[in-house]
Amino acid sequence: MGLGVSVGGKQVPNALKRFATSLATSPEEAYVPLRKTPELFSSLLRDEWLAPTLMEVVAAAREGKMHPGLKKEAEGIYSFELFTPKFCRALLDEVDNYFETGLPVRRPNSMNNYGLIVNEIGMKPTITELQQSVLLPIAKLLWPKIGAAFHSHHSFMVQYRSTEDAGLDLHTDDSDVTFNVCLGEEFTGAGLTFCGYMGAHDHRHFSYAYQHEKGRAVVHLGSRRHGADDIQTGTRRNLIIWNHNMQHRQSREYAMRMYDYQQESGPPDKRCLSFTHDRDYPLYKDYPPGTEDNSKRAWCPPPAACYDTMSDDIRNSRTRGPVKKKT
Ligand SMILES: [Fe+2]
Repeated sequence: MGLGVSVGGKQVPNALKRFATSLATSPEEAYVPLRKTPELFSSLLRDEWLAPTLMEVVAAAREGKMHPGLKKEAEGIYSFELFTPKFCRALLDEVDNYFETGLPVRRPNSMNNYGLIVNEIGMKPTITELQQSVLLPIAKLLWPKIGAAFHSHHSFMVQYRSTEDAGLDLHTDDSDVTFNVCLGEEFTGAGLTFCGYMGAHDHRHFSYAYQHEKGRAVVHLGSRRHGADDIQTGTRRNLIIWNHNMQHRQSREYAMRMYDYQQESGPPDKRCLSFTHDRDYPLYKDYPPGTEDNSKRAWCPPPAACYDTMSDDIRNSRTRGPVKKKT
C-alpha cells in the first residue's frame, strides 16, 4: 500500500482515504480528507494571504471614504489589491488537487468548460466570511443601495487558454455585485472589455478595457455588459464571486428592469457585440464557428429598444431570419 494524501501535514493511507470517501454523501464531503491546504477551508483572513493595503481599504470604506488603494478604473468599475501571490498559488494548487481526485466537477455556467465552482469543494463558508468582512464594506461604499447587504454568493474559478476556452462572449452576470480577482498564471492578452449597463441606451457602447493583474480584484455591477478578451498566450485563472442582495432583487426597480429598457441611442460598437445574445450580430460580424445556432435564442435588443437605424427585418424578428450582413 503506497502513501496516501497529506491531511494537516500527516500522511493518510490510501485505504483510509478510500474508506472516508466511500462514506461521503457529496463531492464536497468526499474531498474533506483530500484537502491540500486545510487552512483554505477554515479562514482566508490571514495576513500572509491578504494584500498589505487591503484592511486599510476596508477600514476607509467602513468610514465612507475611498482609500487610494481602491482605484476608480472608469465609471462603475473599481479595482484593488486583494490577495498575495502566496494565496493565489495556494488556491490554484487546491483546485488542481481537486481535479486530480477525479471527484465530480460542476462547471460555473454554460459558458465555461474548464472552471470549477469552489463553493462545491467546501470553500463556501470561508468565502462567506471574506464576503461579509471585506467585500461588503467596499460594495456598500461604491453602491450604497445595491451593495447594502449580501445574502449569498456564487463563487467559482474560471480558466482561459488559447487551446481551450480562449475568452468569454459579452454578457451580464446573474450577480448584483461581482468581484473578479486574477490568480495568475502567466499570460498575454485576456483583458476584460466593459460596455454599458443592461437596459441603458448605451448598453452596447464600449466604455473601458481592464487589464488583469495577479492578486488584484476588479469590481462592478452584474448588470454591466462585459466580456473576456481572447487570451494570446499562457493561462489565466480567476476567482469570481457573484454577490446577491435579496432585498435588491425584491425591489420594484429590479422587477421592472426589462420593462424599463431604454431605446438604444445608436448602433452597437463591434467590440460590445455578443454572438450569444444580440439579434443584430450578423449585421456586423460573422458568427464564430459553431455558434450560428445562437441566433435562434438571441434577444437583444428587445423590439422596443431598437436603435432608429436598425433594419426592419431585425427589428421585427426575434431570430436571425433573412438578415444580410452589412457590406
Ligand atoms: Fe461575467
